[in-house]
Amino acid sequence: MSQIAFDQRIVDQLEKMYRSRDVLRRRQLVRDALHCAPGQRVIDVGCGPGFYAAELLEEVGPQGCVVGVDTSAPMLAAAARRCEGRGRAEFHEAPATALPVPSASFDRALSVQVMEYVADVPAALGEIHRVLRPGGRAVVWDVDWSTLSWYSRDPERMARVLRAWDRHLTHPALPRTLAAALRAAGFADVRAEPHAFATIALDPETYGGRVVAMVESFVAGLDAESAVLAKEWAAEQRELSARGEYFFAVTQFCFTAVRP
Ligand SMILES: C[S@@+](CC[C@H](N)C(=O)[O-])C[C@H]1O[C@@H](n2cnc3c(N)ncnc32)[C@H](O)[C@@H]1O
Repeated sequence: MSQIAFDQRIVDQLEKMYRSRDVLRRRQLVRDALHCAPGQRVIDVGCGPGFYAAELLEEVGPQGCVVGVDTSAPMLAAAARRCEGRGRAEFHEAPATALPVPSASFDRALSVQVMEYVADVPAALGEIHRVLRPGGRAVVWDVDWSTLSWYSRDPERMARVLRAWDRHLTHPALPRTLAAALRAAGFADVRAEPHAFATIALDPETYGGRVVAMVESFVAGLDAESAVLAKEWAAEQRELSARGEYFFAVTQFCFTAVRP
């Protein structure tokens, strides 16, 4: 198995994780950066289970609309359910590299923790640029997994687990090159805001408290040897938390850019 499969099991995990305090904070940061107004048209590239779409429908009101695009049918089904009766929302099954919408037809575009899974990032950013109207704003958020600081008494085992976890996505350190990629796609006024997500306990309200189960389940699914590795590693993380010794920190980046 290579990249994570966004199937019903992951939908169920994200449905819980995306209600947690850290992810609510992240959504608020993205919404502040997007700065939507009533009547605007918004496209959410890699909309997942539709938390952003549902919240943005309230911001754009009855005259505005939100279009969600994703490659995962179970994600799109969850998003459609979440947005039912909340306003003008449409969902399309399509890749970020071929958005099924006309050029220059959106005021805002967002793509949160999606580009890191997309093989051809320049093509996907080019699509966001194409569908925004001149003056339209894009918000692209990704995690730089190379900034991870994660405590273990067995650093060698931690390194093996993290090498395996890097296989869950295509670009483990995408933010390093995103500013240049946005400019190359034709965007102007490119900015980046770093946001630390740090945790000192396996608290389910935190990003670092939820991610242990996701890492364990992904790494365990790779092969029999990895299954043993993941189990032992996760057991240590739970023990560390029980003893008050847990520590997790990662930097996530919010990029904003404007189509000239
Ligand atoms: C980590 S989830 C983020 C969901 C959502 N953006 C959020 O933050 O609430 C990543 C999403 O990207 C979607 N995805 C991955 N590769 C994609 C691609 N090439 N084109 C469109 N969507 C993609 C997945 O199906 C999944 O729903």
